Amino acid sequence: MQYHSLLITGGAGFIGSHVIRHLLQAHPEVRIVNFDALTYAGNLENLRDVEGDARYTFVKGDIRDRALVERTLREHGVDAVVHLAAESHVDRSIANPMEFLETNIMGTASMLHAAREVWGDRKDVRFYHVSTDEVYGSLGEDGLFTEETAYDPRSPYSASKASSDHLVRAWHHTYGLPVVISNCSNNYGSHQFPEKLIPLMIRNVRDERPLPVYGEGLNVRDWLWVVDHAAAIDRILTAGENGRTYNIGGLNEWRNIDLVHLLIRLVDERLGRLAGHSERLITYVKDRAGHDLRYAIDATRLATELGWTPSITFEEGLGATVDWYLANSEWLDSVTSGSYRSYYEQQYGAR
Ligand code: NAD
Ligand code: DAU
Repeated sequence: MQYHSLLITGGAGFIGSHVIRHLLQAHPEVRIVNFDALTYAGNLENLRDVEGDARYTFVKGDIRDRALVERTLREHGVDAVVHLAAESHVDRSIANPMEFLETNIMGTASMLHAAREVWGDRKDVRFYHVSTDEVYGSLGEDGLFTEETAYDPRSPYSASKASSDHLVRAWHHTYGLPVVISNCSNNYGSHQFPEKLIPLMIRNVRDERPLPVYGEGLNVRDWLWVVDHAAAIDRILTAGENGRTYNIGGLNEWRNIDLVHLLIRLVDERLGRLAGHSERLITYVKDRAGHDLRYAIDATRLATELGWTPSITFEEGLGATVDWYLANSEWLDSVTSGSYRSYYEQQYGAR
């Protein structure tokens, strides 16, 4: 690794914690600062296994606090930023859009400005922006998103991420800041906040609570194991070309309702219940406003230029994921304690 001191924003979240764990394992010489505001989605429990590592430091801070970001970059001699901090849940962006614009757009602008203030015109540095396939909009029955697909974001969340991508490109073209961007499909794995489809369904099957399926459950998502996403980020950070975008995905499309049936089977099996026991919990609810029909990623560029492909099958990854949540019931319950109420509960009341 050509970078020595990395600042990871959002490292206490789902993907960020996997990225930190991966980079510390893969690069013995690297030092990492985790810069995170610890919102409801950030949890230092996610990094218990690395907190004793002398190469790892945590700084509690908001990416919009430019003075603190600049001070942290200077104090730690940071030469690469991996920017993941964001508000990440689409339903929340529909209910509360301003928070998303402030964190995702102004927060990214603040990070870019701070990086330029501290780095000046240095070329031995890198600003890596982690983004989403949702910037490309929604697909019909056919086709895949490529890096050439025109941006067409349709939710406050995806519009805020698209804006942040544009800002990153603007800082590259205008100021020559060395940047890379990746746009990834839906991640699954351990430590994901249980408001997202997969951990929410696992938890509700476990607890025999309603399984809220939006609309008719026919929307399609392309699922990638979070550990493979972390490996792709490592590859792009170390070998990607400045100014270039890389799509990341696993060619693994599932209709939501089919995935819910699969999760019911996997959880029921592990809890020793009869086959089909929890099917009765499926509850069709009002559709998400502006619900994108289908996402699917063409990751050919990443495979051919940088040699990355997913390491495990969905069956293996999902089985391991279900095992992790059932073995870590305490984590699942503690992150949702306190004032947290699921989107379903907010809409339909607790059941
Ligand atoms: P997450 O919600 O689990 O974690 C976000 C983290 O950012 C949390 O630790 C939170 O405390 C922190 N954070 C939020 N606002 C902050 C602020 N103002 N200052 C500092 N820290 C702040 O999110 P995730 O699912 O891990 O996603 C991480 C990134 O990857 C996001 O940028 C998201 O858009 C992108 N992404 C996510 C997916 C996915 O499937 N989850 C797919 C593609 C891209
Ligand atoms: O595609 C990448 C994106 O994937 C990331 O950029 C986002 O940060 C991440 O949250 C995710 O967005 P989605 O909206 O696709 O993920 P979510 O888990 O919220 O929903 C997946 C699908 O399941 C979606 O079609 C909505 C549906 N759904 C979701 C929930 C939470 C339900 O039917 N019921 C639910 O309770």
